[in-house]
Amino acid sequence: MKGVIFRGLESLVIEKCGMAAWEALLEKNAPDDRVYISAQSYPDEELVGLAQDVAVALQLPMAEVLKAFGEYLFGYLLQRHPTIVEQFDGFISLIMGIDSVIHVEVAKLYQEPNLPRIRCEVIEDGFILMHYYSSRKLCLCAEGLIYGAAAHYNMTVTLDHVECMHKGADECAIEVRFEQVAA
Ligand code: HEM
Ligand code: ZN
Repeated sequence: MKGVIFRGLESLVIEKCGMAAWEALLEKNAPDDRVYISAQSYPDEELVGLAQDVAVALQLPMAEVLKAFGEYLFGYLLQRHPTIVEQFDGFISLIMGIDSVIHVEVAKLYQEPNLPRIRCEVIEDGFILMHYYSSRKLCLCAEGLIYGAAAHYNMTVTLDHVECMHKGADECAIEVRFEQVAA
């Protein structure tokens, strides 16, 4: 996983729990003197170890931590790459463009990124079906990113994870139902 994702987690932990907490998590889960550089890759297990310890520290289930992290990560990535996000005129076009636009841009900026495969279909007004596949099985992180995107565009969103790789499916299917928040 790219350093930029670790930096997002670092920023979240420091904001919620302080610098000392992050230092302690790093000490336990990473080699000595680890510094995450956005464009560089680090072992996935390191991210999982860090996230697991965040769950313990906050007394939350791992699933909740991954979701909260994904939601925070959207804002973090937006800040890091505003031009990638600004080309969309709203929530629907952004979601439909994750694979074909956003992650294509990411692949130009970062060498050999490990990206999921995401396919989206508009089923009807206010309802998109998302298919997610990745050997890293970070579908809960995807859920969090969807929540983060919805918040950015002032939408309320309800997710239904109807099929999941963690339950033996070949890919995850996430039903995304959304509505503009009344002004
Ligand atoms: C990786 C989904 C938007 C940049 C990932 C991963 C997921 C994901 C689940 C983890 C890797 C995996 O599953 O195998 C999504 C979804 C998005 C979204 C659902 C919108 C709702 C964005 C945006 C950016 C971005 C807006 C940047 C502007 C990245 C980067 C990685 C990544 C840099 C790490 C690649 C690596 O570690 O090699 N994305 N993403 N994503 N995404 Fe996205
Ligand atoms: Zn899943």
